[in-house]
Amino acid sequence: MTEENRFLDRYRTGTTPWAHQQVDFNLIEVIEKRQIKPCMALDPGCGLGVEAIWLASKGFKVTAMDISPLALDKANAAAGELGNEIRWMVMDIMTDDLPLSTYDFIFDRGFFHTFDSDEERSLVARKLAASMHENGLWLSLIGNKDGVAVRTGPPLRTASDIVLAVDPYFEILSLEVSIFGSDQASPAKIWRCLMKKRN
Ligand SMILES: C[S@@+](CC[C@H](N)C(=O)[O-])C[C@H]1O[C@@H](n2cnc3c(N)ncnc32)[C@H](O)[C@@H]1O
Repeated sequence: MTEENRFLDRYRTGTTPWAHQQVDFNLIEVIEKRQIKPCMALDPGCGLGVEAIWLASKGFKVTAMDISPLALDKANAAAGELGNEIRWMVMDIMTDDLPLSTYDFIFDRGFFHTFDSDEERSLVARKLAASMHENGLWLSLIGNKDGVAVRTGPPLRTASDIVLAVDPYFEILSLEVSIFGSDQASPAKIWRCLMKKRN
């Protein structure tokens, strides 16, 4: 089964343990701490759209992208009137192209970490960088492998995995340990990685 089918199937069967109701606090904290003002924003792998909708409610011009049309339909329905302000984009980042030099801020929650190989993560970082304006910021929430025993849950990555993929395209501004903002009793440990596009 292909990667595409895996995610399409998971939305179809409702096997989406990453789904959550509340906006992830990591996004709110970084927006406030860094005083990131409303701008052109991309949420790749937005899933059910909680953060994309929140960004739009704060005045960001949001593109919400996912490989799953079903996820985007559900996200659009959840957005209500705000759904008309959001650009919903179905694409596979592995094979399709994002608009070039368009976004000032990219936020992903558990999207970058789904890619298993160095080559795939490098391709994703390159494509995201190409879609951004100069000095654009990318905040990525990534499952953290440090000290975590093998178990079920999100994919887990090392700091080296991240640096290897992003360093050619992004300057890392901060790489912090956090947890997912989640409705679950024991949210997974993550990397909260804020990057600036290299010019
Ligand atoms: C772990 S889920 C996270 C969803 C959402 N960001 C959240 O936090 O609830 C990863 C998302 O990435 C999407 N995705 C996976 N591979 C993709 C690809 N190649 N291109 C576009 N989206 C993809 C999946 O459909 C899924 O919605």
